[in-house]
This record gives sequence, C-alpha cells and structure tokens, in this order.
Amino acid sequence: MALYEWKDVYNIGIDSIDAEHQGMLNLINQLFDAMSHGKAKEIMVDIFSELINYIKLHFKREETFFTDTNFPEYIEHKLQHDLFIEKINAFKTQFDDGKQNISVELINFLTDWLINHIFIMDRNYLNHFKKHGVN
Ligand SMILES: [Fe+2]
Repeated sequence: MALYEWKDVYNIGIDSIDAEHQGMLNLINQLFDAMSHGKAKEIMVDIFSELINYIKLHFKREETFFTDTNFPEYIEHKLQHDLFIEKINAFKTQFDDGKQNISVELINFLTDWLINHIFIMDRNYLNHFKKHGVN
C-alpha cells in the first residue's frame, strides 16, 4: 500500500526535476511499505544509498540551474539542501553505529521534506526557470 500518490499538480514542468521528485515520493512509499511489513531494517542500506544518489544528482541539478540563471533565492535554497544533507548523514551515522530503529524518525523527516521543500519551496523557482527557458 502506498502512503502517497503523485498528482499532476505536483509537477513543476521540468521533466528531469519532476522525475526526481517522484523518486523521493517512491522512496518514502518503499520505506512505508517495508515498515508496515516489519521489514524496515532490511531495506535501510538501500534507502540510504538511494538518498545519497538523490542528493548527488538532484541537488546538483537544481543548484546548477540556480547558478546558471542567477536565481535570487539561491543561498536560502542551497541552505535547505545542505541541512538535508547534514540530517541524512546524521541518520546514516546513527544507523551505522547500531541504532537501527530509526525508520520512523527518518520517514517523518522525509515526509516533512516532501511537503515543505518539494511541494512548497521548489515551486518558488518555477516562474524563474520558465522565464529563463530551463527545461
Ligand atoms: Fe530543492
């Protein structure tokens, strides 16, 4: 059972970014599904490696668009990305140190990110990107 379903209204109209945002929603659903079957621990290693890929690929893509187009909110936006990276690293350290029961905290954090960053903050660059023909 999926926790969230992607809706057209979540798309910002840049295919690469929309696909990666959907990837985050899928990752949350994957974690939720494993948790509801008592199998969270088994997939945590994969979840962390997907999160690290997401950071490398997706944040880099957004930040390159920001610098290429002189996005005025670059610093604030990048700060949110950096805080996300710090938090994921902290979760990963806890997990590696043997505190493996962090799935609830992690899913809460990722859900908050999905709603407050992807669904709200990322929309702030929509008009700016359109104006600069980013796609
Ligand atoms: Fe972002």
